[in-house]
Amino acid sequence: MSYKILILLLATLVITGCRGSDETDISEPRFPVTQDPDVFAQFLNSMAAVPRDGVPSDVIDNVQDFPEAYYNTIDPDNTRDTFDKWRQANGFINADGSDAACDPATCRETHVKFRDTKDLGYGRNMFMRWNTVTNDVAVYVENFQVDAVPGVPYGPLNFEALVNNDRQWNFGVNAIEFSAFPYVGAGARKFTKFYNFAGDGIRATDPSGTQQHFVDLDNRGDKPMPTTCIVCHGGRGRTLVVEADDGTLKVAPTLVGGIAGDVQAHMQTIEFDTLQFANEPGFTRADNEDGIRLINQAILSTYEYRKQEFTGSGDWNPDLAIETLRGRYAGDPGNPANRYNANFVPSGWTSDQNLYRSLVGPNCAVCHALRGTNDTTSVAFPTLSGFQNYDQRIDHLIFEQGKMPLGLLNYSNFWDSTDKDPSTMATALDLTDRVDDNDRAIRPGAPQAVIAAPPIATGIDSVSGNTVDIAISGAGSAFTVAGSERWQVSPSSTATVTPAGPAGDAILRVTTPGAYVLTLSVDGVNGGTDTATQAVQVLGSFDANAPLPGSAISYFGLDGIHEMLQAGQANCVQCHSPNGLSSMPVHYTACQSNQFNGNEFLYKSVLARVNFDAPLDSLFLRKPANGATDPTDLSGSAISGYHGGAGAFTNESQYSTVLAWILNGAPSGSIPAASTIDGGAEACAP
Ligand code: HEC
Ligand code: HEC
Ligand code: HEC
Repeated sequence: MSYKILILLLATLVITGCRGSDETDISEPRFPVTQDPDVFAQFLNSMAAVPRDGVPSDVIDNVQDFPEAYYNTIDPDNTRDTFDKWRQANGFINADGSDAACDPATCRETHVKFRDTKDLGYGRNMFMRWNTVTNDVAVYVENFQVDAVPGVPYGPLNFEALVNNDRQWNFGVNAIEFSAFPYVGAGARKFTKFYNFAGDGIRATDPSGTQQHFVDLDNRGDKPMPTTCIVCHGGRGRTLVVEADDGTLKVAPTLVGGIAGDVQAHMQTIEFDTLQFANEPGFTRADNEDGIRLINQAILSTYEYRKQEFTGSGDWNPDLAIETLRGRYAGDPGNPANRYNANFVPSGWTSDQNLYRSLVGPNCAVCHALRGTNDTTSVAFPTLSGFQNYDQRIDHLIFEQGKMPLGLLNYSNFWDSTDKDPSTMATALDLTDRVDDNDRAIRPGAPQAVIAAPPIATGIDSVSGNTVDIAISGAGSAFTVAGSERWQVSPSSTATVTPAGPAGDAILRVTTPGAYVLTLSVDGVNGGTDTATQAVQVLGSFDANAPLPGSAISYFGLDGIHEMLQAGQANCVQCHSPNGLSSMPVHYTACQSNQFNGNEFLYKSVLARVNFDAPLDSLFLRKPANGATDPTDLSGSAISGYHGGAGAFTNESQYSTVLAWILNGAPSGSIPAASTIDGGAEACAP
């Protein structure tokens, strides 16, 4: 976006008599330069459980079918499939549409109005109901977004529209219900459910009040529900769509044995200091402060409920979110005398309060405090030292690839604010080459060559002496001109690299086993070039530790990936199975279902953790390598605290086998027909 348009817009606002913000200082987004402008508000792997070559049309597409399966799961009888039904079900209105009473003995309610400047930039008309007996909480937000000025959808005009109640700009309603619904009975536990309804106005894609399955929250393309919500609200993006016993599509539980529909997302603490208000009755900071405190008090009760009720290894660990929310209100948001304290710093960050206040708190913790699990709290970034353990991974995702912060406005706030600079973060992580001579951080945009190649590979068939293809790839490189990838290998007298597809896919072939070095050069979309190198130890198939040739590896089958995960080999099942830890994201044993093959479910669960666009970013590779950022130095580059219990590949050959399998398209092999192998006896989905 050009600054000229922005200046024009601001000038227009002054001329037409903008009601203006009060004290909030807003930095308007310079639209981020990213490799893919649509990456925001979706997970790094936007095609979870979709095979590399797409899916045949008659089977489940885990991305396209997700919204329908999700809504079928959280609202099986369509009691909340319109905005009015949702409000009625959650006690906001009566059957005739009139406002429902809120008896102070059992109910708290509030209605606040503000513009959120940091996350979505909308004018927000937010309503809450909290049943203080059941502790069910429901919140909905009418979003006002004016996009009359091309390219400027995030400005203060959005708040103007809300102040004027100019409903043509109400483009949609976001809603969250925290309750046990649709489950009933003593054991039914509460979780958040995400809804989106079309608004009244011209930006809404469907008739007003109807449920929307794909939404465009940031003017960067339609994305599936609830995925586009839960990237910010703590959720997991690897849940599978399945066909239920009654033939409808449903989502399987996100954690094995957990609640289907509980995608591990949570309510967001409202950061009072980042909101914009107006000097109009009902819209001032003072008019809204106590309502926001009340919403935060209700949100705290949802966090504390989760802490008490969900205690398995893979469940969310809310400690940091609780500490922060309480800390912002002098320990207790329930006391109206306690005012919001924007300067609060969690105890793990007292040694670098500036870094926390300027960057980590506003730009990372907002999403990450909702992400840590009981056995892997580190990714919530509760401490400075834990944050520093992620230095190379942060370097990769922030400074090299420009993928974090994962929200468009947040990204812009991170890079464009005048009162802070990401160099503070680069310096704290010792990433000296990310800072220029003027001590400013260097924005992402330079080309980055990334090699995905197994560090150990079988390249010669020891029986025939023939060459065996080794698949390698430059997918995962960033800011490169497509097709500009150039490969070299040394010694070149006994090896060649042949291009084999888009994104730098190629085949390495050798005539003699030995130590080889690959070199990949790429040209940048913004100019410049970059070069990466990686060593590959090429073995003959009879050598000790020789992995299977890449093209021979499948998930099922002799010496396949599945076998490797079992007892006797990598033994992942000591934790990832019915006999292992509780609330795990994935079991490497087949589950049982009357409706579909549990082995297929198992394969898809693994596929959901494979990222074909950036093979080294695959969770199925990163977790068991304990976050290693250098494939040729797995233990040296591991991230402490990265993988629950630190269960890992027991040798480099296993890592290489998994990477080679991914580079060959992660084939299933022939899926065993029986719905149990390995004696797994748990249900795939309730
Ligand atoms: C870019 C990040 C982001 C995305 C995407 C996002 N939210 Fe939020 N949401 C937030 C933040 C931050 C808050 C806290 C208040 C605020 O800033 O408006 C919030 C607040 C809310 C609230 C008020 C209750 C609470 O949690 O504080 C609701 C309801 C809500 N979001 C629903 C949704 C739904 C439904 C979607 C998807 C359609 C969605 N959100 C997408 C970041 C996001
Ligand atoms: C809008 C929400 C959001 C913001 C803001 C955000 N992140 Fe993330 N971050 C995520 C999500 C979601 C994931 C998980 C991505 C996935 O698995 O697809 C993630 C993953 C990561 C990871 C990888 C963790 C792993 O398991 O390997 C790192 C590192 C990271 N973020 C760093 C940061 C830093 C540093 C900041 C602040 C400058 C930041 N993020 C801001 C949402 C966010
Ligand atoms: C000592 C216990 C333990 C062992 C052994 C173990 N894991 Fe894990 N793993 C966990 C826990 C706990 C989690 C959940 C918390 C986390 O993400 O770190 C997890 C998470 C994962 C995830 C992330 C799934 C997701 O969707 O978030 C993957 C992938 C994974 N493990 C793969 C493996 C593989 C492959 C092996 C064997 C080489 C293995 N694990 C061995 C404990 C273990």
